[in-house]
Amino acid sequence: MNLTADQLRDKYLKFFESKGHAIISGASLIPENDPTVLFTTAGMHPLVPYLLGEKHPAGSRLTDVQKCVRTGDIDAVGDSCHLTFFEMLGNWSLGDYFKREAITWSYEFLTQQLGFSPEQLSVTVFEGEGNVPRDEESIAIWESLGIPPARIYALPKEDNWWGPAGTTGPCGPDTEMFIDTGKPACCPECRPGCRCGKFIEIWNDVFMQYNKTAEGTYEPLKQSNVDTGMGVERTICMMNGYSTVYETELFAPLMAKIKELSTTQPPEEQAVRASRIIADHLRTSVFILGDPKGGVKPGNLGANYVLRRLIRRSVRYAKLLGIEPGYTKTLAEIIIANYKHVYPELEKHRHTVIHELATEEERFEKTLAAGQREFDKVAEALKQHGQVTLSGRTAFKLYDTYGFPLEFTEELAAEQGLAVDRSGYDEAFKKHQETSKQGDATFKGGLADNTAVTTRLHSATHLMHKALQIVLGSHALQKGSNITPERLRFDFSHPDKMTPEQIQRVEDLVNEQIKKAHPITVETLEFEAAKAKGATALFAGKYGEQVKVYSMGDFSMEVCGGPHAANTSELGGFKIQKEESSSAGVRRIKAVITNLK
Ligand code: SER
Repeated sequence: MNLTADQLRDKYLKFFESKGHAIISGASLIPENDPTVLFTTAGMHPLVPYLLGEKHPAGSRLTDVQKCVRTGDIDAVGDSCHLTFFEMLGNWSLGDYFKREAITWSYEFLTQQLGFSPEQLSVTVFEGEGNVPRDEESIAIWESLGIPPARIYALPKEDNWWGPAGTTGPCGPDTEMFIDTGKPACCPECRPGCRCGKFIEIWNDVFMQYNKTAEGTYEPLKQSNVDTGMGVERTICMMNGYSTVYETELFAPLMAKIKELSTTQPPEEQAVRASRIIADHLRTSVFILGDPKGGVKPGNLGANYVLRRLIRRSVRYAKLLGIEPGYTKTLAEIIIANYKHVYPELEKHRHTVIHELATEEERFEKTLAAGQREFDKVAEALKQHGQVTLSGRTAFKLYDTYGFPLEFTEELAAEQGLAVDRSGYDEAFKKHQETSKQGDATFKGGLADNTAVTTRLHSATHLMHKALQIVLGSHALQKGSNITPERLRFDFSHPDKMTPEQIQRVEDLVNEQIKKAHPITVETLEFEAAKAKGATALFAGKYGEQVKVYSMGDFSMEVCGGPHAANTSELGGFKIQKEESSSAGVRRIKAVITNLK
């Protein structure tokens, strides 16, 4: 069956709607309040509080399409199917149905809706480890649907255990579905999960029954959940009989343009890999820069660094193909045109996307030549002395002075048969961070843990958000939030540095509301009704979508997933520790509450 991505998204959501699921909006790529990961990596990620037991306003059966960024597989990009950005279709049971329904519906959707033949399908299940037994139940369900035992593989934890998305949170055994491409097996051991490309994973049903704690133990969750994820790019690739995701309509115009812009002819295999990396990395960068939350710009730390690395890696491969500078704009235009009907935010942020890409491209162009000379000099000297390792200090200098991401230096080094001293680099980097006071990102677990202190800090964020609008004006809207057990960090739109008086007024307003001991209440409303009531809403909900609205007295009313403290008095007291610039037109506040217990 031939199917476009548009048709697939539509079919999937309608199918699960027919099985009682509410269609909800996908979330931003920039995780809200969760410092344990840099980007949204899976559809389950924005749903963590609900998988932990919080009630979801739309009910206990949900379905959506979620934009995801995963850079763990960045080195695999260039093959037929690994991507750093992808769209994930998902359906969830929040303590509602479990294995039988999940697997049966997956099978029904694959065979009846998408027309895959049952013979093309192989599945894997968890073989058991420690106190979690082999997943006999899933095996029996697959067999009852007609999948023969020979195509059901029980595999260890590294293959069939999913999550948590960050360092802590919901996780559990999974069953994964693979399509056999019909290619010859690479070896007698070839099986689903093998990287040779014979079997392509398109769907994963995770049975989330456990919570991984900060101490690294697994405790049973309050409820048994189902979390499934199906990759849009891979699925349409398989359905249309293509052998790579780059042939699908999501990439084809981009690949054609890259080919047209290329002026050199490196060996075929190298050229193919380079053009895929350029396409993949720029598509991811466009989605990060075009995210409705905004705020992530190329930089040297955390998510900013990931973005910088993606753009710079693409520039380097563009050089290999002899693509003229300025290409990021040309390619970004194609990506935006290709996706804007599904993700209107890309069109809305077109200017920022193109401007940031072009600026980073230029910045890198300038330092690239100088850095390359430095690298060549060092590499030559090393080789003359028969050495095979580039020192961590040199790698750090290339990073610090010439803007070479470490991984980039590693790639250059590998081309010369050299390794890089990673721990030496880490040491130099750490020293630099300590002295430059930029060291800011400590990923320690946050709201994903639902601890009392992080929920209180989250409530403080709502009070401060409102106070900022009162003191600075209605333009002072949230651009980002990150909470650790030690502090809240909040980015908001405002052109100028706040004066000491303004900071004092915001603190006073928040403390006043804490003293008033407002009960923090929540109600579920349709998105439009919440807006009409005057609730602050940071995202554009789907028409008719049910959302939660948190109120603190008559002071603050905000659409939010929660969780929150029960009463503002729990916060104790509020203090702003720092007010600084975050990026152009965006200020950043770090603040603490006194009840940090
Ligand atoms: N969280 C699982 C995955 O990413 C299923 O959605 O594969």
